[in-house]
Formats: sequence, structure tokens, C-alpha cells
Amino acid sequence: MSNQAELILDGKSYQFPVIVGSENEKAIDIGKLRDLTGYVTYDVGYKNTGVTKSAITYLDGENGILKYRGYSIEELAQKSNFLEVAYLLIYGELPTVDQYRDFDAAIDKHSMIHEDVKKILDGFPSFAHPMGVLSSLVCSLTAFYPESLEPNPTPEQIDHSIIRLMAKMPTMVAWAYKKSKGRPVNYPINSLEYCANFLHMMFANPTEKYIVDPVVSEALNVLLILHADHEQNCSTSTVRIVGSSQASLYGSVSAGINALWGPLHGGANQEVIEMLDEIKASGIKTKDYIEKVKTKEVRLMGFGHRVYKNFDPRAKIIKKACDDILSKLGVNDPVLEIAKELEQAALNDPYFVERKLYPNVDFYSGIIYRALGIPTNMFTVMFALGRLPGWIAQWKELRENKEPIGRPRQIYVGNVSKTYVNIENR
Ligand code: CMC
Repeated sequence: MSNQAELILDGKSYQFPVIVGSENEKAIDIGKLRDLTGYVTYDVGYKNTGVTKSAITYLDGENGILKYRGYSIEELAQKSNFLEVAYLLIYGELPTVDQYRDFDAAIDKHSMIHEDVKKILDGFPSFAHPMGVLSSLVCSLTAFYPESLEPNPTPEQIDHSIIRLMAKMPTMVAWAYKKSKGRPVNYPINSLEYCANFLHMMFANPTEKYIVDPVVSEALNVLLILHADHEQNCSTSTVRIVGSSQASLYGSVSAGINALWGPLHGGANQEVIEMLDEIKASGIKTKDYIEKVKTKEVRLMGFGHRVYKNFDPRAKIIKKACDDILSKLGVNDPVLEIAKELEQAALNDPYFVERKLYPNVDFYSGIIYRALGIPTNMFTVMFALGRLPGWIAQWKELRENKEPIGRPRQIYVGNVSKTYVNIENR
């Protein structure tokens, strides 16, 4: 393989270095392109653009492979727990027993949030979407911990921000939910492990005892692991680009939460359930719905992916988990059958086959969330809870590698040379 790429422009030849990643991914390093040629590249939606060298997550879309720090997603989902995976993503290695105990203890120590956060929460109407509430609460941490605004934080300061965010996020997510229900918030119970503590804050109420069901806690653990990182997706790229201006971890993650909210990204899990409920309520046959998708009247939410062109390994795990969990919990959700019918119809239809459209992580996850008692408008918030360690790891990597500020170019196609005319003469 050549380690140089040749570009011929206006009859002149230029050489650019080829770089190869540890999984043999190849890229042309065009860092000097504009200086040498005066040209920039044009790549709307960044379909061909590598924006960083990252050692966190590897994704092979053609072969349906996803690895965190070299460990396959299948193995982590089966054997690990969310906190351990968070440590792996953020610090690069699986923790030893002592490292895990210290990480867990540090998170417990910081799980409370400032009482004044309740006043911010009170300012929202109860019908506010919890994603907006969550992004505001995360950003509000910059006010309670102004040292997080330090543009060049020491490793200790970075670590402090990381622990605080990991610790407070489940509390903020549960409080956003309680707010939407108009119910009193619960404080964290540090003797419970991460998922059980979160479920307790979500579902306990003053009128009856809440005992965490281990089936629910384990299902949540797997879902959070599956969502924990996904390299340079829309929200993660947002976190990195915001962080590249030396913005704080909290500000950067808050921006990432907003990017995740959109229906083409993390918001798709809410859209999928709404679509399935609508299909059920209207009684439309799945084959007729597929026809509407093919004529582009509607999009099949939870299908398709920018990178996966064969299958999404997370969707495979979730589909299986969906059957297991619903049967363990004794839940019979009729939309599961509709989802399976849609998947079957799509996988056998040339429209989907030719475009390489397969179920993604969001296709079945909402059905599990609903079986766990989580309401539809909280689905994307659950995605954010899971994605947090990935955002943190990517922000930390960017800062440690001292990457420059992100600042793309454009091709200007607007007016050239207009002359100003006073408003009364236009
Ligand atoms: N239903 C119907 N047609 C689709 C779909 C879909 N879900 N996704 C893509 N297509 C078609 C699209 O219309 C286009 O067709 P044509 O060539 O005739 O114009 C072709 O497939 C290529 O689509 P694209 O929009 O250019 O692909 P993209 O890589 O830009 O978009 C995507 C990827 C995920 C935004 C898109 O597949 C989509 O909108 N899916 C539905 C929303 C969704 O489930 N999002 C969650 C993604 S996974 C969770 C995450 O990490 O965010």
C-alpha cells in the first residue's frame, strides 16, 4: 500500500500522506491541502471526513462490529456493568478491584445535587420535554462549580468535573422525570448500585415502598452499556467541537444532549414507539405502511444508519433482550409484533435492501424502556444517560490531545458585490 496519495490539480501534482489506523482504516491526511493548493474539500454531512484520531471506540459499519477500547460490545453487554464500562471508556482500561471501588465511592460521594437546582427545576412547566430540562440542569453545573470553567484545567480538575457529572446525571435525569409527573423528587441512596439507585430515584414515591426488580435493573444495565459510546456521531462531534473552544465539560455535554434530542439521532427511539402506536391505533397493515415509506410519505424510524450498512450489532442484542425481558416481566406489548413484522417486511424488500437499511439501536429499545415503566418522552433522556461516559471520554481525549479549535470551511454561493440601498428606496 502506498503511504502517499497523489492529487493532480491544474496540471500540478501534490503528495499527501496516507495514515492507517490500528484496525487498518485508511485516510488521506489533507492537513496542508489549502496551504499547498488553495483548495478545500467539500463533504456535506461529513460522510468522508475523519475529524480526529481516537483510541476510544472502533466501529466497522460494513461488518457490524463495535468495540470499546478493543472489547467487543457483545462481550461487554453480556459480562460487564455500566459503571465498569464507563471507567473503561473514560480511563482507557478496565478497572482493577481497587480502581473500581474508588470510582464507585467517588461517584457515591458526589451523587447529591445542590438544593438550589430544585429552584431551576421549579421554573420549568411540568409539560416541558425532559431533554430540555436535562440539558439545562447539566449546564447549570457550570454555575455551581465555576472552577469547571477554567480553560486549561489540570488533570485533577478534569477528573473532578468527570466524577461530578457521572455522579449527578442519574439524579438530574430522575428529577427531570419527577418534574414532568409533578411528584416530589427522591434523593440518591448510595448503598444501591448505579442502576438500582437510578430506578429508585425514578419510581419510589412517598406512599409506598419501592423495591428494585433485579430484572429491570439488569435490563437497564445492558441498555446503558449498548449506548455508552459510538465514536464521532452527531452528538459526540458536537461535544468535541464545543469542547475544542475550551468550553467546560458541563457546557459541552449540555450541547451534546441537545444534538442527541433530534429525531434523526437519539430522538428516534421516541419516534419509533409513536410510529408503532400509531400503526396499531390506525389499524394500517404493515405492508401498506411499508409502501408509504417507499413513496417517502413517511420514514421508517429506527431504520438506517450512516455507518452501519449490514447490521447494527446493538440492535441484534436489543432485539433478543426485548423478547427475554418482556417474557421475564410478563409484559405483552402488541407493538413488539408490529415491529417484528415491519422488520421482516423491510428486510425482504428491495427498497431497503438496495439502500442497506437495517434496524438500528432505536428500533427495539423503546419497547424495552416501556416494559421497564419508562414513559415515551423519557426514552431519549435514557439514551443520554447511557451516552454520558462516551461524551466524557471524547471530551477528555480532545483536551488531552490538545486538539485545535474545530472550525470547518465552506463554499460560499451567495451574492457577490451588491450595493446598499436605503430602506425607504427598496
Ligand atoms: N426510512 C426510509 N428511507 C430511509 C431511511 C428510513 N429510516 N433511512 C434512509 N432512507 C433512505 C433515504 O430516503 C435515501 O433514499 P434515496 O437514496 O432514495 O434518497 C437513502 O435511504 C439514504 O438515506 P440518507 O438519509 O442519505 O442516509 P444518511 O446516512 O444521511 O442518514 C439516518 C442516516 C440514520 C439519519 C437515516 O437512516 C434515518 O433518517 N433513519 C431514521 C431515523 C433513525 O432511526 N435515527 C437513529 C439512528 S441510530 C441512533 C443514533 O446513533 O443516532
